[in-house]
Amino acid sequence: MTQVSETIRRHHSALRRTLRAHLKTVRSGSDPGEREALVEFLVEELIPHAQGEELAFYPVMDELLRDHGTPTRTMSLDHERILSYVARLSRATRHRIRGKEVRSGARDATFDRLALELGALLELHFDKENRAYLPLFARLVSPEKQTGVLARMHEGAEHGPGRRQHPTRA
Ligand SMILES: [Fe+2]
Ligand SMILES: [Fe+2]
Repeated sequence: MTQVSETIRRHHSALRRTLRAHLKTVRSGSDPGEREALVEFLVEELIPHAQGEELAFYPVMDELLRDHGTPTRTMSLDHERILSYVARLSRATRHRIRGKEVRSGARDATFDRLALELGALLELHFDKENRAYLPLFARLVSPEKQTGVLARMHEGAEHGPGRRQHPTRA
């Protein structure tokens, strides 16, 4: 880890901490000015960070990923996070079904929050696959190979953990 990469990583940690703190206060409803504070943080800090990445960091990463990386790794990281959400939601549901007496508003609120977060993550994930992958796939992969890929995806779905789900849905 170099000093600069460590600086970027630390900045990410700081942004995450601040974001989580804002979201927590927004959810609690304890501070009426918190919504504005959150938007201000997003406009003043988060967006400039993203713009800086687009300007200087991503162009370098494009080259590195092309030559040394695995470009789809970020999407697999999405899948990893999606699986983790599904596991947490599934645990929460089982808990609610088994023990009616421990069912509480707080637990339901946690379930609802996780479901909303997963929803946002999935929206973005589908959007990335639809906009960044499928146009290239449709344009540059032969029809025979495309059919083969689809067949293998179905095969994977039959043997994988989420076999009742079509793979293109997540
Ligand atoms: Fe970033
Ligand atoms: Fe996916």
